[in-house]
Amino acid sequence: MNVLLIGSGGREHALAWKIAASPVLDKLYCAPGNPGIANEAECVDIEVEDHGAVVAFCAEYEIGLVVVGPEAPLVAGIADALNEAGIPVFGPTAAAAQLEGSKGFTKDLCDRHNIPTGAYMRFNNAPKAKAYAREMGAPIVIKADGLAAGKGVTVAMTLEQAFEAIEDCFEGAFGEAGAEVVVEEFLEGEEASFFCICNGINALPLTTAQDHKCVGDGDTGPNTGGMGAYSPAPVMTDALIEQTMEQIIKPTLQGMAERGTPFTGVLYAGLMITDSGPQLIEYNVRFGDPECQVLMMRLKDDILMLMKAAADELLWTMSARWTDEAALCVVMATKGYPGAYKKGSAISNLEAASAVHNVEVFHAGTALEADKIVANGGRVLGVTALGATVITAHDQAYMAVDLIDWDDGFCRRDIGWRAIQREK
Ligand code: AMP
Ligand code: GLY
Repeated sequence: MNVLLIGSGGREHALAWKIAASPVLDKLYCAPGNPGIANEAECVDIEVEDHGAVVAFCAEYEIGLVVVGPEAPLVAGIADALNEAGIPVFGPTAAAAQLEGSKGFTKDLCDRHNIPTGAYMRFNNAPKAKAYAREMGAPIVIKADGLAAGKGVTVAMTLEQAFEAIEDCFEGAFGEAGAEVVVEEFLEGEEASFFCICNGINALPLTTAQDHKCVGDGDTGPNTGGMGAYSPAPVMTDALIEQTMEQIIKPTLQGMAERGTPFTGVLYAGLMITDSGPQLIEYNVRFGDPECQVLMMRLKDDILMLMKAAADELLWTMSARWTDEAALCVVMATKGYPGAYKKGSAISNLEAASAVHNVEVFHAGTALEADKIVANGGRVLGVTALGATVITAHDQAYMAVDLIDWDDGFCRRDIGWRAIQREK
């Protein structure tokens, strides 16, 4: 089978690496890809926003499955265009991608189906949003409704911060995404990410991971797309996974099917494990980045077969097995990220880092300049290791990180700290 993978981040490099290992793969293409992905796939220059061009490419190159990595093309309806053209695609329609595309949509769905989540209200103007925040009191969470690259959420510890976040949204800090605002109850607990592959009302539970959203050590500083991850997340016991399936995932899929927008693809539940059980913080309609990197390192089965089975409505025939080992990914980013940063700084010694036992270096925002790798984005590399424990995986990953020469790069030094504390 020929496969077209859409995307250019660390998540897509991990997917490309795993898909390339599939015995049922003939040829892998990636649009647009990156220099790391180019080791696994032929990178092709198609305008992903031009759905007609994607469909035409698939017809010409006899693509048997399109795998969509990021959320933006899904929310823009790329799966709808492919479905219409009869090309198998792994990823939800635009209507089903609203689970990530609109926080208000998901909160309303939770409300209708009694899915545990924080109390909330939706607003289209600042005065009413502020009044509700005042009534609820701080801490309180302010969310731009639409897609904001993981940056549209403010956990406000004071009312002043909440008011400022509300004003930012309505003054256009997140463009259209902030034209509506969700004001949400602050949930206390430990966060975990849980992933399922879904088709309609069928869900194949995958595994768990924990992300590190803040830019600084000790979970300080502004939120990012994710500075590192590990899997599995020990906070998610089998009993909590079962509870999440019954109370959160299944009613969501049922609700989506009932409203005529069944969900196909990866459903990623961002959870807060509170004293009263798992509560939904948000859904994403794709693998996490960098969670995908750790998941692909631990998956023993063929990801391509799993995704194809979902696209062909044969998911119920499949299972997914995971190594008992832990995987841990350290994201290396350009200094300045998640704020402004410079592009073009040189990165070297990647071969030595990749040669460390059980380590894969996944590329995100890299580019080739005169045959040399340079930084070309905020999050640039995902140095990922497998180990018997989170501590071993951590040590292997940082050994590789420390071999990389990149003056303009930085990373958090404490990825995995919660699990490591538990192991110690
Ligand atoms: P999101 O983009 O919705 O995942 O939010 C980004 C981060 O904000 C989450 O990973 C949490 O750390 C935090 N967050 C979001 N919603 C809440 C909430 N209701 N209570 C506490 N923290 C939250
Ligand atoms: N790492 C968080 C996300 O992919 O949304």
